Amino acid sequence: MFYDAARNDHGLRHDPFKALVVPRPIGWISTVSRDGVPNLAPYSFFNAISTDPHIVAFASADKKDSLINAEEQGEFVCNLATWDQRDAMNASSTMVGPQVDEFALAGLETEPSRLVAPLRVKHAPVHFECVWLQTLPLKGRDGRQSYYLVLGEVLGVHIDDRFIREGIVDVAAMKPIARLGYHDYAVVDEVFTMKRPG
Ligand SMILES: Cc1cc2nc3c(=O)[nH]c(=O)nc-3n(C[C@H](O)[C@H](O)[C@H](O)COP(=O)(O)O)c2cc1C
Repeated sequence: MFYDAARNDHGLRHDPFKALVVPRPIGWISTVSRDGVPNLAPYSFFNAISTDPHIVAFASADKKDSLINAEEQGEFVCNLATWDQRDAMNASSTMVGPQVDEFALAGLETEPSRLVAPLRVKHAPVHFECVWLQTLPLKGRDGRQSYYLVLGEVLGVHIDDRFIREGIVDVAAMKPIARLGYHDYAVVDEVFTMKRPG
């Protein structure tokens, strides 16, 4: 099949777009509000997009609390969401106001960051401490826009030492989860290796 993406006339039960760009890593973003309330939410329009400097990005449908806090306070943390914390990750996506601490809502323990104010998700095996760089409105050709891309530079990286073996990060042991379409997820618990030619 083929369909026109602007008209979105796929004729399927649900828009397949998000089921076709898979799996998407989940940036589990923690921030702090101007009133000092901790905030946590998952974003699957998320990725690492540069290593020099180290830059990550997440896209927010309209201006949600994570974006507002990241802009206002200039900082955010990306926590790695894993199989063990899948239910808490999902609970932290509950649409609640900025006065609600989603760490508490999801029953999560916190730990302080080293370089930034937002808290880290305790027991997450990886955390990126980030400073906000810029926010880009994602405008289409006709000027339509509802998403914003938030860019942050990574200042510091935490890796749980239990997952470092002989100088290599054992990703499969961490069991990161990733978003598919619909209500589906994938878990990375197996990897294969393929060297580049040349
Ligand atoms: C796995 C997962 C991925 C999500 N990805 C996004 C995303 O990329 N962009 C977005 O705007 N909302 C996304 N959401 C929904 C937000 O997490 C949800 O709206 C949340 O309440 C936003 O919280 P905040 O206002 O504290 O930032 C996702 C939800 C889940 C469960």
